[in-house]
Amino acid sequence: MNLLSVVDFGGFLVTIFSVLVLHGPNLNLLGRREPGIYGLETLDGITESLETEAKNLGVSIDSLQSNYEGALVDAIHGALGIHRGLLINPGAYTHTSVAIRDAIAAVALPTVEVHLSNVYRREAFRHHSYIAPVAVGQISGFGAFSYILGLRALIHHLTHIPSG
Ligand code: DQA
Repeated sequence: MNLLSVVDFGGFLVTIFSVLVLHGPNLNLLGRREPGIYGLETLDGITESLETEAKNLGVSIDSLQSNYEGALVDAIHGALGIHRGLLINPGAYTHTSVAIRDAIAAVALPTVEVHLSNVYRREAFRHHSYIAPVAVGQISGFGAFSYILGLRALIHHLTHIPSG
């Protein structure tokens, strides 16, 4: 899906845009990974819910999960000219990755950071995010619903806040 597409909805021409959804390491194991912390929803289930929500909001999404920092950096670079914004759960890279932070700053795409768990109620090393300073905002602690809230927040930002 291109940056801005014109779609024919039964005679009505509607412009829609696309956002990139990125999931960091270990999130492929959602559903079986520490369910007391992350819940029972699988990554496929989250993607399905996000696609339904995106359709309702009139946007399109592409999703990618990777356990590799460089693959996430490449995906962020690849979003330039294709996507209008970025929804990202960087997983543990939240707390370690200057490279992902720099990639987001480099492409300057509006970014919302999401976490399933409330990272501020957990170990001290999870209280620092390298991503938050280059994000529009952060949503943390609502389980799989954090992604839905994050997508709504990102779309609101992209459609209501003037860029530039
Ligand atoms: C997480 C929180 C991180 O601290 C952790 O490393 C994750 C998942 C979350 O969604 O709650 O992998 O990003």
